[in-house]
Amino acid sequence: MNALLLILSAYLIGSIPTAYWIGKWFFHIDIREHGSKNMGASNTFRVLGSTWGVIVLIIDMGKGIAAVQLSHAVDSSIWLGYETTFWKLLLGLVAVAGHILPVFAGFRGGKGVATLFGVVLAIQPWTALISIAAFVVVVFLTKYISLGSVIAVTVFAVCVWFAVKETNEYMRWFSIIAALLVIVMHYKNILRLLAGKENKFTGFKRKK
Ligand code: G3P
Repeated sequence: MNALLLILSAYLIGSIPTAYWIGKWFFHIDIREHGSKNMGASNTFRVLGSTWGVIVLIIDMGKGIAAVQLSHAVDSSIWLGYETTFWKLLLGLVAVAGHILPVFAGFRGGKGVATLFGVVLAIQPWTALISIAAFVVVVFLTKYISLGSVIAVTVFAVCVWFAVKETNEYMRWFSIIAALLVIVMHYKNILRLLAGKENKFTGFKRKK
């Protein structure tokens, strides 16, 4: 399979604007004009309720997993001079970028957290589970979902660099790029956290 076609496919998968389409099709709203205005699972929980939030979370993580699976189109362990792990990570990163800048939603997407953890789950499941555990603990203790996301991607990068023995250089650089990307996408949340103005997660609401 042509490398560009593979990369384009990963981008299109990442571009599926789950929260936007669900808001538009089932509630006739643009999720990006409600709640935190983010096109992601957290804001779907917040605006449309827990059932839709879980659906968005699963599909957005699934996009990351699916993009990694595209690497099976690479027909040997070395392709165009790069090993399969490189392709898995590149395709995963492109899917995360697609979620952030989706062609199907005017290039106004989400922050990439769920899709990134789908990618990591498909490549290094234990690292993903440790990061998700960190997310759950932080959200449980602070009620800040954004803080949980930022800490989780940081834990992911730290695990990859210092804890996981079977990791490689590609994974190390991917973890840095992906973590920085997600943290930059949270800059407004970080400013609100520093100002004490970030919304706390206090429960699930259903849009009427
Ligand atoms: O994954 C996004 C989350 O970390 C923050 O979302 O809607 O609270 O800005 P939100």
